[in-house]
Amino acid sequence: MILSELAAKLQNITRLKSGIQRLTLTDFRNYKNLRINAEITPIIITGENGSGKTNILEAISFLTPGRGLRSAKLSDIKRIRSSDEDENILAGNAWTVAADILKNDEEFTVGTALQKVTREDTEDENLHSIDRRIVKINQQKITQQAELGKYISAIWITPQMDRLFLGGPQPRRSFLDRLVYAFDLEHAKRTANFEHLYRQWMQLIKSGCQDNTWLQSIEADMAALGVAIAAARREQIARLNTFITHEPDDIFPDVRLELAGTIEQMLDEKAAIKVEDFYSENLRKQRQNVLYNDNIDGVNRTDFKVFFKKKNMPAELCSTGEQKALLVSIILAQTKCQILDKGFAPILLLDEVTTHLDTQKRDALLTKIKDLNLQAWITSTEPQNFKLLENEAQFFQIENGTLIQ
Ligand SMILES: Nc1ncnc2c1ncn2[C@@H]1O[C@H](COP(=O)(O)OP(=O)(O)OP(=O)(O)O)[C@@H](O)[C@H]1O
Ligand SMILES: [Mg+2]
Repeated sequence: MILSELAAKLQNITRLKSGIQRLTLTDFRNYKNLRINAEITPIIITGENGSGKTNILEAISFLTPGRGLRSAKLSDIKRIRSSDEDENILAGNAWTVAADILKNDEEFTVGTALQKVTREDTEDENLHSIDRRIVKINQQKITQQAELGKYISAIWITPQMDRLFLGGPQPRRSFLDRLVYAFDLEHAKRTANFEHLYRQWMQLIKSGCQDNTWLQSIEADMAALGVAIAAARREQIARLNTFITHEPDDIFPDVRLELAGTIEQMLDEKAAIKVEDFYSENLRKQRQNVLYNDNIDGVNRTDFKVFFKKKNMPAELCSTGEQKALLVSIILAQTKCQILDKGFAPILLLDEVTTHLDTQKRDALLTKIKDLNLQAWITSTEPQNFKLLENEAQFFQIENGTLIQ
């Protein structure tokens, strides 16, 4: 499909509204009770440090599969009562997030809550208590969180990502894998299963296991999963490359994306089945390495490399503001891909996104968000940064866990 056709398709989809109409939080972080009636526009949330801006974005991220934008422990989210609160309120209430949502103008309700599962509930002698997140769509409990992805989707930028291009590859790899999940719900399962097998394999070797058949069967399973993971990552990079800033006068940089990983690179030249054989054999050869270090070559070591294309500059050598702009380019490309692939618009969760951007880039970003015609929740301590959207956005001010306007 040529780009003008893609642009027309994009516009057709975003003519229909997708996003949250009403959001209700109960005992979630610093919110005892919060209800927000929202429109499918940019939504600017301002407030002082610690007022509860990021908590709102985190709550929304729990309407999608996974562990939310902070990757938090479920029990940490439950509201901690301040020392001057009434002690008579029933203790033990779990947190909940509920929302009335629109998906291409069609209404649904989504709810999620913390549920404690105890020994009595499961009759499992060994179980003390575990935290689980239950999810309901239109009041019906669903067993697979991935199901949520069919109704609502969210893409986020957080201040932690300001350091994404610095330091080791692990956060970049997770970032890329999250971009893949949005298209390929199986990818989450694949990466979790791979990690599980990887740990099991290392433990067996460290404990002196000599059972070659057993080790080989784990290596074969790891190789099969690993090649599927690598292939899905490559596909995602190809998808994003289609959409990363094509307008020559775009203020956001053109980006080159690369995967630095043995398995991903090998898929350039060899059929998947051959790569799988190599991977399995390579794991066998590396068994001894497990005893000396944990650096086993494979998809667990892949790096996601980002370059400022015009400057031919690796992202880690770009300035702080340039790095933020590269991230914005990637996220905007992901947004467009997702609209086309899923047929409905994702919600954008942009936490302090204007930090490090100069005025020109800040306003260009706000214009792009407005033009995309979707719901974007944007937080900031500086309301004056959003003058450009004065008549086009909804503005909320938060003070100490309370919506004051
Ligand atoms: N489980 C919890 N119960 C009660 N309060 C919590 C809980 N977890 C975090 N908080 C508090 O919620 C408050 C708001 O946090 P949040 O991260 O949303 O602030 P913010 O408005 O984004 O601030 P900043 O501008 O500094 O990013 C903080 O004071 C934090 O300590
Ligand atoms: Mg914050």
